[in-house]
Amino acid sequence: MLLLRRINTQNSYFWFMGGGGAKKACPQYVPPELITRISDTSLYLFSCRVNIIMKSRILALLREKGAVISGECISDVLGISRVSVWKHIRKLQELGYPIRSSAKGYQMDGDFDALYPWEFSHQAYKIYFHQQLPSTMDAALELARNGCDAFTVVIAEQQAKGRGRLNRVWHSTKGGLYFTLVLRPEISPVFLFQINFAVALCIVQMLNELFGIEAGIKWPNDILVGKKKICGMLSQMEAEAEHVSFLNVGIGLNVNNLPSAVEPGAISIFEILGTKVARRKILSDFLARFEAFLNQNDIGNILVQWRQCSLTLGRTVRVVTTNNVVEGRAIDIDENGGLTIRLADGTEKTVVYGDCFH
Ligand code: BTN
Repeated sequence: MLLLRRINTQNSYFWFMGGGGAKKACPQYVPPELITRISDTSLYLFSCRVNIIMKSRILALLREKGAVISGECISDVLGISRVSVWKHIRKLQELGYPIRSSAKGYQMDGDFDALYPWEFSHQAYKIYFHQQLPSTMDAALELARNGCDAFTVVIAEQQAKGRGRLNRVWHSTKGGLYFTLVLRPEISPVFLFQINFAVALCIVQMLNELFGIEAGIKWPNDILVGKKKICGMLSQMEAEAEHVSFLNVGIGLNVNNLPSAVEPGAISIFEILGTKVARRKILSDFLARFEAFLNQNDIGNILVQWRQCSLTLGRTVRVVTTNNVVEGRAIDIDENGGLTIRLADGTEKTVVYGDCFH
């Protein structure tokens, strides 16, 4: 049985201690959830993490309350000064959060679909958010080569040069969810397809559980609703011999954008439901689900689940590879992720990459 496990980088880890007793005395009070591994000795990184946690907690308080909450109350709950609360709130307002300030305190007026690091609670310290990037693949590649932690996530609100499989353009207009996840799996490069399959399965499950959307997977990794594509995945890896240095998985999910305007074969969650949804909840759910999935599943299980979600198996397909076209009935997926096709003459052929049409 082959298990997929996450591994850490070789960085040394330090434990930053804090505790309830220090709460009032110390201006840099460290909440219990901050007693965690931080992959650098730098105090700068530590204060960034504190900053992220504080914003995350302020937003949670404002969202939970749904009414005016005083600066004093926030300051008491968080164990930071009122000036510090005010500074965090002013920054959030500058970034576009609809927080109203009054003599009585602060109130969140409506929602704001933001993807800043503090929207992702425990994963916060690995999230890199950019308003605009050429492609999250390039930024993640640089981070991965420089030794960033596994489960680092690079998000872009928009991409100027978003790319898809087989050198296609990935239209990345505002409202979609575009991110690349850096992974450092401890498996041989030939088994990396399992991770891509696992990502696709998690997206399908997430769409179903959060929104009741019934999606399926077109081999190898397109996620469709009906015949329309809602999500695409692009992988990039570097390995030395049998050791995978990193696997970057780029995911483009059509959420609140209108992809059918530029791509008739595409659809978004908004186009299906007729209402906008919070991308932060989607990404949070996906990351937690994927992490749990990797810890729980073995290869056999991934293949079984993939077959159940497949829209390709049992269909008449046409797979175009660089120098070949294979047509026939898709009958199975093999242990290397290849698609086995029964040809008209009854023989079977397995393709490991290509563009699949059905
Ligand atoms: C495909 O279906 O062809 C794959 C599309 C992958 C798009 C995502 S969006 C985030 C990441 N950055 C990119 O430039 N591409 C991937």
